[in-house]
Amino acid sequence: MRKKVEEGVLKRIQYEVWTGDFRDHGGYRYWRDKWGALLRDLGTTEPMDPLEFLRQDKVTLLTCDGEIVGMHLIKEYARSQFSSEPYFQGYNEEFLRELDRRGARRVQALQYIMIDDKWSVANTLMNFGAILICLSLRHQTENRLDASISIARADVAALSLCLKLGFEELSVSRMHQVDVGLIACFEPSPYPKPDVNEWVDYYWKNRVESVAGAPGTERKAA
Ligand SMILES: CC(C)(COP(=O)(O)OP(=O)(O)OC[C@H]1O[C@@H](n2cnc3c(N)ncnc32)[C@H](O)[C@@H]1OP(=O)(O)O)[C@@H](O)C(=O)NCCC(=O)NCCS
Repeated sequence: MRKKVEEGVLKRIQYEVWTGDFRDHGGYRYWRDKWGALLRDLGTTEPMDPLEFLRQDKVTLLTCDGEIVGMHLIKEYARSQFSSEPYFQGYNEEFLRELDRRGARRVQALQYIMIDDKWSVANTLMNFGAILICLSLRHQTENRLDASISIARADVAALSLCLKLGFEELSVSRMHQVDVGLIACFEPSPYPKPDVNEWVDYYWKNRVESVAGAPGTERKAA
């Protein structure tokens, strides 16, 4: 059902940036259940590895009145970790060579983007996926990282969205039986629809940064 999301609702949505110890984080169950179901649909039989969530540096969420609109996970890596970290097994030589050629020494990996079906473009006419990726790219700029990298599904909007936001496809591969782009963003660019960029500014300015596992540390970021 396509129904334009009202401005009042858009203003109630909050961008939450979590760091710290994610063992008891409220987003863990959401990630495990939603991604578990999705990967099962793609034919994967292995259970979700909790470390995939726990090892992240940042759990970022868009929430509305406590309900998860979308989630994106962020982890930074230095060049010296590219050959030793299991995460990089998803990439290939061609991709890593190109990262080197472009001088990427410190990067952030963006993983597990998900927009809850209720908040999809189809149901809200608002592109929360684009908003969340743009917000993730703000961390790249703020932390002066050389690039953001990601493995993006070509069979859903993930890859095409990223390519509109400044990512470049450095190589291709297959994962969980689907074609994926091995992508990197060196220079983020705004989404081609102005309303998306206005909301990105609004959510970034009003973001709330919190430390998981340390009660009472929540604070307004801007
Ligand atoms: C990927 C995801 C975040 C996209 O969010 P969404 O709100 O469902 O977005 P949609 O797919 O409806 O559309 C987003 C845009 O891409 C377009 N699009 C949709 N499917 C597409 C496709 N296969 N190829 C190219 N463009 C596509 C839409 O027209 C829309 O563009 P617009 O804003 O200019 O109108 C969401 O589908 C999701 O959470 N999927 C499950 C998790 C997942 O697989 N994540 C990707 C990990 S790599």
